[in-house]
Amino acid sequence: MNSTIEQLKARFDKAFIDAFGSEMAGTDPVLVPATNPKFGDYQANAAMSLAKKLGKPPRALAEQLVKHLDIADICEPPQIAGPGFINLTLKTAYLETQLMAIQADERLGVAPAKTPKRQVVDFSSPNIAKEMHVGHLRSTIIGDSIARILEFRGHDVLRLNHVGDWGTQFGMLIAYLREVYPDALTTANALDLGDLVSFYKQAKKRFDEDEAFQETARKEVVKLQAGDEDSRRAWQLLCEQSRREFQVIYDLLDIKLIERGESFYNPFLPAVVEDLEKAGLLVEDQGAKCVFLEGFTNKEGQPLPLIVQKSDGGYNYATTDLAALRYRIQQDGAKRLIYVTDMGQSTHFAQVFEVAKRAGWIPEDVEVVHVPFGLVLGEDGKKLKTRSGETVRLRDLLDEAIARARADLEARIKEEGRFETEEFINSVAKTIGLSAVKYADLSQNRNSNYIFSYDKMLDLKGNTAPYLLYAYVRVQGIGRKGDIDFEKIAGKAKIILQEESEMVLAKHLLQLSEVIAQVEADLLPNRLCQYLYELSDKFNKFYEQCPVLKAEEPQRTSRLILCDLTARTLKLGLSLLGINVLERM
Ligand code: ARG
Repeated sequence: MNSTIEQLKARFDKAFIDAFGSEMAGTDPVLVPATNPKFGDYQANAAMSLAKKLGKPPRALAEQLVKHLDIADICEPPQIAGPGFINLTLKTAYLETQLMAIQADERLGVAPAKTPKRQVVDFSSPNIAKEMHVGHLRSTIIGDSIARILEFRGHDVLRLNHVGDWGTQFGMLIAYLREVYPDALTTANALDLGDLVSFYKQAKKRFDEDEAFQETARKEVVKLQAGDEDSRRAWQLLCEQSRREFQVIYDLLDIKLIERGESFYNPFLPAVVEDLEKAGLLVEDQGAKCVFLEGFTNKEGQPLPLIVQKSDGGYNYATTDLAALRYRIQQDGAKRLIYVTDMGQSTHFAQVFEVAKRAGWIPEDVEVVHVPFGLVLGEDGKKLKTRSGETVRLRDLLDEAIARARADLEARIKEEGRFETEEFINSVAKTIGLSAVKYADLSQNRNSNYIFSYDKMLDLKGNTAPYLLYAYVRVQGIGRKGDIDFEKIAGKAKIILQEESEMVLAKHLLQLSEVIAQVEADLLPNRLCQYLYELSDKFNKFYEQCPVLKAEEPQRTSRLILCDLTARTLKLGLSLLGINVLERM
């Protein structure tokens, strides 16, 4: 099924050819949703941009175009306004048939991609033995949603966790491990280091205070890199410990990832440097091998090189990313590489991509994109911290959201004089708490910082997860009250749109596929959130204005179908944000 905008575009394409000749095929009609419902549903603004090219006043062009535009089955007669806007209003009969079609479609009118591609989404990617912080939480939530949307469109998505599991800090950690748990390597298979982050801090303290220890740590790095068995085992132990801690968060948030950490690319690092050398891109600067690119400078305006091999022969973060990029293109066969990290890494990725491009590693048909995001701020507008000024542990943050959702829920249950089982309360509080955190993050344009507020994200009113979940619950409530089997009523009945609020809701329901196509292109999940928020809002207005169960037939069934379509759209849309719906709350 083609979206309305796609159908209109095809009609315009034909009109361009018929009105101005075949060389005009493929002209963009500049079709956008109308800014004001007064002017209809869509407007085509092409006449303005074509005026110069065709040497005619835009209004005359618009008239000529409209004369050849065959859209009577979709729209009312087009209206030309102002300098040459073409305003389009969808016909009620068209809306009714379209709704019937999406209602019979499991995908609600969202067609699978015509040319599915293999795409890598590199997200989450915390660092071993270090805190998984709120920045990683953002990456996890945004990356997962992007992956879900691409998967739903039928792409073959590789969800990669590029964990920081390599680097000189492991020398220090292993040396410290040998010191405090001398028999850890020979006896324990499930060593519990307790809190790995404080273990890291202790090791770091030891490292900073003792020169002899620093030397031991350096030797450990060399041994680890040389593949010494004991050192590898110690490294493994540390990784496993971290992995277990990360997994708790992933399980809680229902996140699936394939771990392919930095260490995976070790064997490919020398070739990266060699090939850059061969391509004539390397410059030696104080013993380090670098690539200088014009346009990249540091704060002082000095050229900012991308260092690929340090003077001691070691490789770094950028070298690994170059190797990973090549591997994903050449071995994985990916056509789109998506990297979800905080904005602070924008320069890093811009440099990595540019170097790879110059080295000829990015074929024409491959797209590489950095998907940056802003900071998570506390309610004081500063970086999110606990009351005592510590970094917030993710586990605590999620638990707190669940606890608060539970308190709200219990208060509501009491107020309404309901009785609910402990099991119900637990599961609903968990869903609401976690969805609230995910949605608060996703609903913001990721390019800006956002303020983390439990009160705001858990509010039943406003652009929040509970508000959307509630709209879904409302439909289920109607179903229970009227003893309706939504699956059965569909199919045999007709949709009839009469009231203004029905029309508004109907038009919105039909826009899902346009929204998904947009998110697929610009990777901004907040567009989907906004769409679902407006859907809930329009549904609530419809429900206030139009009786459903009490309506006469054939309205009753028609409205029940609108309710059902709203619920199904919410369920699908929320699932693409990684959020589960509730039948009751
Ligand atoms: N481990 C990095 C960090 O915590 C993020 C890695 C992102 N992915 C990548 N391919 N560089 O900042």
